Amino acid sequence: MRALILLCLLHSALGVRYSWHPETKEQRNECLEDQGSCGCCKTLREIERMGTYFNTRLTELEEEYEQTKQTFTDTKANRTAFSVALFEDGPFKCYGPFANEQPVIFKKVFLNLGNGYNPNNGTFIVPHSGVYSLAFTVYSDAGSPNSKLAACAKLLVNGEIIVGSTDINKHDQEDSSSNVLVLHLNRSDQVTLSLSPGCFLCDDGYHYNTFSAFLLYVPDCDREMY
Ligand SMILES: *[C@@H]1O[C@H](CO)[C@@H](O)[C@H](O)[C@H]1NC(C)=O
Ligand SMILES: *[C@@H]1O[C@H](CO)[C@@H](O)[C@H](O)[C@H]1NC(C)=O
Ligand SMILES: *[C@@H]1O[C@H](CO)[C@@H](O)[C@H](O)[C@H]1NC(C)=O
Repeated sequence: MRALILLCLLHSALGVRYSWHPETKEQRNECLEDQGSCGCCKTLREIERMGTYFNTRLTELEEEYEQTKQTFTDTKANRTAFSVALFEDGPFKCYGPFANEQPVIFKKVFLNLGNGYNPNNGTFIVPHSGVYSLAFTVYSDAGSPNSKLAACAKLLVNGEIIVGSTDINKHDQEDSSSNVLVLHLNRSDQVTLSLSPGCFLCDDGYHYNTFSAFLLYVPDCDREMY
């Protein structure tokens, strides 16, 4: 049964098949000389050839399996994901507004797999090159109706603006704004959320302001600089 399964696997995985060769002229002559042992000889020769063939293929498969296992182990060991919120649990309060651009430092850490996110300065330092999924939601509360509401933030990679998200008006007392994107990031890239001048974000134990990212996959071109 195992041999059968192996045969099927070999056939589908390698796309090559063991094939029974017709006997050569020499072999035929040999057979004519000793007809009694001919069939047995041929069978033994074929079995030997088959053995060599399957041993070689098995060795190749074992090597491929070891490589795959190693890649999987590395991927598992290098898993990267974080999800954070603006404040630790506490009473409702706001961050901002400020006259200048300020980093948004998300203090509440739900998950920080791989420790790429630094809750002291709000920076995510990319631990491994790859394709990342990133998302953030910002929320603001004007405090009273008809006051100015300004929920806005920008996502920066190495100080450069990648995307912004903004909701500024006087119609709502509270509102939120979100952005989800997929980016290719290099190891050591610094990702932060930045609060635009005049904007302010408010939160309490409900955690309306969140920032999350995870490594989606590592393209082959990143493997060596992973
Ligand atoms: C992460 O992956 C690299 C490259 O595959 C590997 O050398 C390294 O050991 C992995 N990191 C950990 C913590 O295992
Ligand atoms: C945040 O802290 C890390 C680790 O100390 C440091 O490497 C990084 O440069 C800091 N980023 C900013 C924007 O201060
Ligand atoms: C990542 O590195 C590659 C190769 O060094 C470069 O071409 C690319 O611009 C970098 N990407 C970012 C987001 O820095």
